[in-house]
Amino acid sequence: TRYLALVPAAGSGSRFGGPSPKQYLQLNGRPLMWHTLQALSQVEAISEVVLVLSPGDEWFDDFDWDLPKLRVHRVGGASRAESVRNGLEAMAAGEQDWVLVHDAARCCLSVAAVERLIATLADDQVGGLLALPVPDTVKRADAEGRISATVPRQGLWLAQTPQMFRAGLLARALAGSVADEVTDEASAIERHGHKPRLVEGDAQNFKVTYPRDLALARAILASRKD
Ligand code: CTP
Ligand code: MG
Repeated sequence: TRYLALVPAAGSGSRFGGPSPKQYLQLNGRPLMWHTLQALSQVEAISEVVLVLSPGDEWFDDFDWDLPKLRVHRVGGASRAESVRNGLEAMAAGEQDWVLVHDAARCCLSVAAVERLIATLADDQVGGLLALPVPDTVKRADAEGRISATVPRQGLWLAQTPQMFRAGLLARALAGSVADEVTDEASAIERHGHKPRLVEGDAQNFKVTYPRDLALARAILASRKD
């Protein structure tokens, strides 16, 4: 069985704003998603890093990516789920191959976290994802913005990526799911009747969503330089 990374990068970064999508922003001398692709490439078990771009992408060719495991497919769709589904089809993975779907915008992913995910799930029937136990007290709000309940955080996790599943199962789960009902691969697998495993990730593996996220990403990447 092979381990293949699948990186959806066909989004427009509407919440981030700016002239080009956030994944192309310069961060410590490289495009933001170069750091993402580099981390996945450095995982020895991963043989290919498959990048899904929008068919109209005007930015990818401006950079020298210099990542030997990288494969590029310009098959992105209107939603993240669609981009993943199209990418999965284009990569022609075997039924039993493991696919690690990871957001291009999570550029502070560490090699160690991916290796922990792979090691934990090696003998798993279903697969799973990196996630973070909720650290704060959780409140449910009513329509007026007042607390209607305090939700025990025991057993609550925040989903991250990579989300790692067998290619065959993932394709069947995604085929049966309507794009806007499914926000991550795990929820498609859940709807398909399986229970993905939660593997502890780390807080540094956050998704760059707003401009305010950049300072933290810069600092984390700089701290790893040497
Ligand atoms: N993505 C994708 N295809 C889409 C939408 C999103 O491949 N149609 C990718 C993004 O490029 C990103 C990842 O999915 O790497 C996570 O999505 P998000 O952080 O929401 O990025 P955007 O959709 O680009 O940002 P926004 O929602 O603010 O527009
Ligand atoms: Mg989005």
